[in-house]
Amino acid sequence: MTSCFNGGAGWPEPVVRVQAVSDTCGATIPERYVKPLSERPSLSPAAAGGAGGGPNIPVVDLSMPDADATSEAVAAACREWGFFQAVNHGVRPELLRSARAAWRGFFRQPAEVRERYANSPATYEGYGSRLGTAKGGPLDWGDYYFLHLLPPSLKSHDKWPSLPASLREATEEYGEEVVQLCRRVMRLLSTGLGLEAGRLQAAFGGEGGEGACMRVNFYPRCPQPELTLGVAAHSDPGGMTMLLVDDHVRGLQVRSPDAGKWITVDPVPDAFIFNIGDQIQVLSNAAYKSVEHRVAVSAAEERLSMAFFYNPRSDLPIAPMPELVAPGRPALYPEMTFDEYRVFIRQRGLAGKAQLQSLQAKATAAPADDPAAGGSPSSS
Ligand code: OGA
Ligand code: NI
Repeated sequence: MTSCFNGGAGWPEPVVRVQAVSDTCGATIPERYVKPLSERPSLSPAAAGGAGGGPNIPVVDLSMPDADATSEAVAAACREWGFFQAVNHGVRPELLRSARAAWRGFFRQPAEVRERYANSPATYEGYGSRLGTAKGGPLDWGDYYFLHLLPPSLKSHDKWPSLPASLREATEEYGEEVVQLCRRVMRLLSTGLGLEAGRLQAAFGGEGGEGACMRVNFYPRCPQPELTLGVAAHSDPGGMTMLLVDDHVRGLQVRSPDAGKWITVDPVPDAFIFNIGDQIQVLSNAAYKSVEHRVAVSAAEERLSMAFFYNPRSDLPIAPMPELVAPGRPALYPEMTFDEYRVFIRQRGLAGKAQLQSLQAKATAAPADDPAAGGSPSSS
């Protein structure tokens, strides 16, 4: 399997592409990918919410003429589930398809071509197979490509794959449209909190000040899907996420408000799956929930998803908005920049809701007005 190793590039051990493991491992997956019993995915039809007819994440039509009704539906979904599927969202279906097709094309290229873009833990930008730098740590059954879109100073087409030939243009156009959609959802989320429509955007650094990046996930076929996960349980660290999932392979599982049971999302074709990230949970003082989710993989089919992360400007202090703090409702989190917060994730990988919980513990242990609880400054 020599072709699946890269040079190390700052990783604690050689990186193995899951695509190569999938091609060579036969009927048994390597130990590093086997999850502890309590973390393994439920693949029974009962867990498959939509198909089983059980509760599932709400669907919100973003083309409703009544703006108040739209904002109420968005806010209700984000308070209860932290997730919804956005339909009639205004991004052209052809663009969804062309972006997805371009990225499928990238993952279908020979390993040598993909390896030209191998990433390192310094920025994670490029082609990768792990998050976190702990030697011997658990691995997930997925490869990915990570890139920056905003701010413009971080965007560099040279760091995006040059092949397939359509990829850069499709990604650029896709990114522009999804940013517009995110800005619109930010207004709906603000009015849903009883705030002025531009309030959340202002907290993100204003239009043009925000950050945006994308992770394209590729989950190869897996001979033992019941033992592993494509992405282990996590909440998204950023502001919010617009996820475009595979048009026919399911896999995303979300912790439901019903006792935290895992349900499998049944995707609506051409919809975006929207979710709140940790930064908006903090800004909204936990009115909106950044909910744990994970990815189950399949023995029969590979799966591709595109996660678009919309984030606050990374050097702004993020704390509960003062309008949402009251004597009976103290600030649940201390102030921290997204750069500082990201340091946790880059070192330790995604780990359930551990990062947010450790922050909350600091805030509630300290006086409510203590601004001092910080993290270490970011090097990125
Ligand atoms: C993510 C994520 C879900 C999926 O990339 O953060 O949760 O369905 N992806 O791939
Ligand atoms: Ni996620």
